[in-house]
Amino acid sequence: MKFLFALSAAVAALSGVGPAAAQVSLPEAQVNALEGLFGKHAGARRSGAKGVCASGYFVGAADARTLSSAAVFNGDRVPVVARFSVGGGSPKASDKGRSVRGLALQFQLPGGEQWQMANVSAPVFFVARPDQFAPFLQVRTPDPATGKPDPDKLKAFNDANPETLRQAAYLAKAPIPASYGTVNYWSTNAFEASNAQGNKQFVRWQFEPEAGVLGLSEEQLKAMGDDFLADELRKRVAAQPVAFAFKLQVAEAGDPITDPTQAWPETRRLVTAGRLVIDQVAPGAGGACERMTFNPVVLPTGLAPSADPVLNARAAPYALSLGRRIADAPK
Ligand code: HEM
Repeated sequence: MKFLFALSAAVAALSGVGPAAAQVSLPEAQVNALEGLFGKHAGARRSGAKGVCASGYFVGAADARTLSSAAVFNGDRVPVVARFSVGGGSPKASDKGRSVRGLALQFQLPGGEQWQMANVSAPVFFVARPDQFAPFLQVRTPDPATGKPDPDKLKAFNDANPETLRQAAYLAKAPIPASYGTVNYWSTNAFEASNAQGNKQFVRWQFEPEAGVLGLSEEQLKAMGDDFLADELRKRVAAQPVAFAFKLQVAEAGDPITDPTQAWPETRRLVTAGRLVIDQVAPGAGGACERMTFNPVVLPTGLAPSADPVLNARAAPYALSLGRRIADAPK
């Protein structure tokens, strides 16, 4: 009898049901929840699935050196690999959706040092803690029986986690971006900058488009298809490079360092720390960014992760998504 029980427990564990199913790690639960809501799309990122590779360079500004000793701010041209994306885990997401747009970058610094980041077009993120990520998505996943999310579960989660609604509230009021090059991108997470004298400050960053923030009118939205952002960027960059001012927002005592759902007051000092220029866009799918992941704790000397738990939870699900999409990419 004992043997039979052990055997059935082992079978249950192998088939992913029963007690063992609860032992999925947090990063696995996060990536599974993305696949649950958006479906599994072979070869695609499990978040920010639709996107385009691009490249260019970054030039740091002298003011940044008052905050950080990172070599990226020494004023030389630093080559950058970029990826622009539409939020969510579907490669067929509409470019007109009220989701975030993403800007992911890898700076190739002298001496082999790297800096990676993935920013979104909202000043706040949708979870304050990594354990909210999977349930946030699960309560929005349609129930197969009704084809809709369970309204009671959704309400219970939202009531218990009101801070997870701040990003959607921001996006509801923001215009739908007319271009990947005409929207502001934010880190939302905080980082610790240290300068040559060893002084440390917490910062968040943002990329402000030099072309200004341009959204689509209701009429333009009606006239546009669901896929315009990649081609629009190709045409825009062919005419003239797309540039962003890179700004560091400096925290003051008491600002929430560990909660990316809370913006810092707009009155906080903003230091113009450099200029990002995008001068190439991949002509089609694929490109240098495709098989990379942008791990936001890959930082140069002079910048370090803060204690923000969301920031520190990102590396593992990114690596897991990279592994899954390389493994299931069409050969
Ligand atoms: C617990 C929190 C988070 C989880 C579990 C998570 C999960 C993921 C995963 C699995 C990917 C796909 C990675 C790949 O296949 O390379 C991804 C991509 C992305 N994430 Fe996150 N993420 C989190 C927080 C954030 C935050 C705070 C931001 C920015 C504010 C962000 C912005 C992005 C962007 C822009 C992409 C697309 C990157 C690209 O183009 O390669 N994520 N995320």
